[in-house]
Amino acid sequence: MSPLFLPLFLLSLLPHTYSISAPSFPLSTNSRWIVDSTGQRVKLACVNWAAHLEPVAAEGLSKQPVDFVAKKVADLGFNCVRYTWAVQMVTNASVGSITLRESLVQLGLNESVAGVSVNNPKLLDLSLIQVYQEVVAALSRSNLMVILDNQLSKPSWCCSRYDGDGFFGDKYFDTDEWLSGLKIIATMFNSTPNVVGMSLRNELRGPNQNLTLWYRYMQEGAEVVHSANPNLLVILSGLDYDKDLSFLQLKQPTLSFTNKLVYEFHWYGFSDGGDWENGNPNNVCASVVKSTLLRVGFLLEQGWPLFLSEFGFDQSGTHLADNRYLTCFMSITAEWDLDWALWALQGSYYLREGQVACDESYGLLTWDWCKARNPSFVKRISALQSPLQGPGLSNKKPYNLIFHPLTGLCVVMDSSSKPLQLGSCADLRAWNYTSDGKLVVKGTSYCLQSVNVGKNVKIGTDCSKPNSKWELVSNSSMHISSKLDKNGTLLCLDVGSDGTIITNRCKCLSENGTCNPESQWFKIILSNRNLTRGDSNIELPFFGRWLSKLLSLGSWREYYSVEGANGLRI
Ligand SMILES: *[C@@H]1O[C@H](CO)[C@@H](O)[C@H](O)[C@H]1NC(C)=O
Ligand SMILES: *[C@@H]1O[C@H](CO)[C@@H](O)[C@H](O)[C@H]1NC(C)=O
Ligand SMILES: *[C@@H]1O[C@H](CO)[C@@H](O)[C@H](O)[C@H]1NC(C)=O
Ligand SMILES: *[C@@H]1O[C@H](CO)[C@@H](O)[C@H](O)[C@H]1NC(C)=O
Ligand SMILES: *[C@@H]1O[C@H](CO)[C@@H](O)[C@H](O)[C@H]1NC(C)=O
Ligand SMILES: *[C@@H]1O[C@H](CO)[C@@H](O)[C@H](O)[C@H]1NC(C)=O
Ligand SMILES: *[C@@H]1O[C@H](CO)[C@@H](O)[C@H](O)[C@H]1NC(C)=O
Ligand SMILES: *[C@@H]1O[C@H](CO)[C@@H](O)[C@H](O)[C@H]1NC(C)=O
Repeated sequence: MSPLFLPLFLLSLLPHTYSISAPSFPLSTNSRWIVDSTGQRVKLACVNWAAHLEPVAAEGLSKQPVDFVAKKVADLGFNCVRYTWAVQMVTNASVGSITLRESLVQLGLNESVAGVSVNNPKLLDLSLIQVYQEVVAALSRSNLMVILDNQLSKPSWCCSRYDGDGFFGDKYFDTDEWLSGLKIIATMFNSTPNVVGMSLRNELRGPNQNLTLWYRYMQEGAEVVHSANPNLLVILSGLDYDKDLSFLQLKQPTLSFTNKLVYEFHWYGFSDGGDWENGNPNNVCASVVKSTLLRVGFLLEQGWPLFLSEFGFDQSGTHLADNRYLTCFMSITAEWDLDWALWALQGSYYLREGQVACDESYGLLTWDWCKARNPSFVKRISALQSPLQGPGLSNKKPYNLIFHPLTGLCVVMDSSSKPLQLGSCADLRAWNYTSDGKLVVKGTSYCLQSVNVGKNVKIGTDCSKPNSKWELVSNSSMHISSKLDKNGTLLCLDVGSDGTIITNRCKCLSENGTCNPESQWFKIILSNRNLTRGDSNIELPFFGRWLSKLLSLGSWREYYSVEGANGLRI
């Protein structure tokens, strides 16, 4: 053990709290990051709000006042909405110029008319285009950023391979009409600062997919949007339902502008071929991540921002495959620190695929749009709502977090005498996962050690034994394991029923789709985010107590906060 001294000058360094200040617009890109006009990273933590189905109006206006919904989105921690639209809303007067009332009546949705007249009476007799704008204005009042997403051309539920709306030139997908639609929408919002980007076309797909045409029309569309509104991020979708951008390895589109281009992709559990239900989750997660890396993830390494603009799961929490997928999703989205948009905000639809008042099981909100459908998911996703890495978060050295994707929490140490436990990742937790496999409390010579099966891990000083060496085992690389000193038994980090960190025998290392390793999935991730100061009244370890008495220093956490944020060696 090396002696620990706390230099006096640390006292002069005040701990800082991480807080997300409102970004200053317009946004642009800096390598793989989206940044604001001061150069600080802005992480998109969005939810999709559909307005592209047959009624051609934002869903839910019959359920709650639009300002209530916007405020709810902000209160749930999201900073942005990916707001969908159909081309015909702006190119075909008989679609977009009728009023909301007329549109609903024409579809036989009289109950929705009654609902809108109660909840949003001012919107009922506006044209559909005006209603679209009013929703953007409400989102702006709640300080939410907006990404306008062209979901399809003909208003309808999206998407199927043979719906005639999947690729340039398909029956309903007239390219000139699409280009003029992009121009109208980009122009319409060119003095609305919180409209920060446009997704040019959602989920290209179907039998007519063609790369030559992809480059031709995406380039044209990007130029049209950029010249109508140069403030916008221009967001391009790939092929095959936006799962495939691999062709960009060979060739990037040629554009007249720089620092505005973002790529988007989609990832759902059901697009992974049913594997989640039957496969060993370690192997399924590993293979899905690998293929995602090859199809889209490489763009991050090449310095392009990647926006996971749709992911989602059955929010009832009863769908086994979705639950496994979601935990895998959480780990990768944390590790890659992606910008993302949940599918979907809407708890219900006026009309979807012929069904009136259709419930959305993927909905963030309940059927009546009152509250979150799954409050524990809201807590869990909050770990991913603020940035972990990127320009402007801190000019200091990075550190590691030990993230637990099943809960959205991190391994937290309150004092050296209390067991380690799960706690908020926003709070101070600085680790250093060293190249020789030690998990060192950053800036100290203390390291994480296993004790025995079912026992709490501890923090110790002799870091040379096997119980201090942690390796990533299993195909998912998400089991953090060490060996028991006395007989070499392989142990994996796990979470006890009281939320403390223990080690157990490693789960599901061999093929078996019936077992569930999720409690043992941890991800060591990198962050350069400013650490926050913890609560006071934390029990101090011996040297902290001694020092704090001597120097009236605040707390153990403060000690790490300063140390962690400044990367000072002691
Ligand atoms: C992080 O800390 C630095 C100084 O240490 C400060 O300038 C910066 O504003 C902080 N960033 C955030 C996002 O709080
Ligand atoms: C405009 O929309 C109407 C109503 O959906 C449709 O009947 C008509 O064919 C559309 N016109 C064009 C030019 O697409
Ligand atoms: C729906 O409302 C319209 C206009 O108010 C009315 O003409 C029509 O009869 C109503 N339809 C039904 C099924 O009640
Ligand atoms: C793609 O479109 C181009 C331009 O229309 C055409 O020349 C080419 O044959 C198409 N490729 C395929 C594979 O259909
Ligand atoms: C982690 O520790 C190693 C030495 O073991 C050091 O070289 C490295 O800079 C540390 N990393 C961080 C992020 O502090
Ligand atoms: C190793 O020790 C652990 C804990 O005492 C025990 O449960 C396990 O059976 C031992 N394994 C072997 C192979 O002896
Ligand atoms: C890990 O993945 C490889 C390749 O997919 C597979 O052959 C192997 O059986 C997997 N290992 C386990 C322990 O399941
Ligand atoms: C799969 O694992 C479960 C739980 O660990 C066990 O009960 C079951 O017997 C195993 N099935 C096979 C085919 O190995």
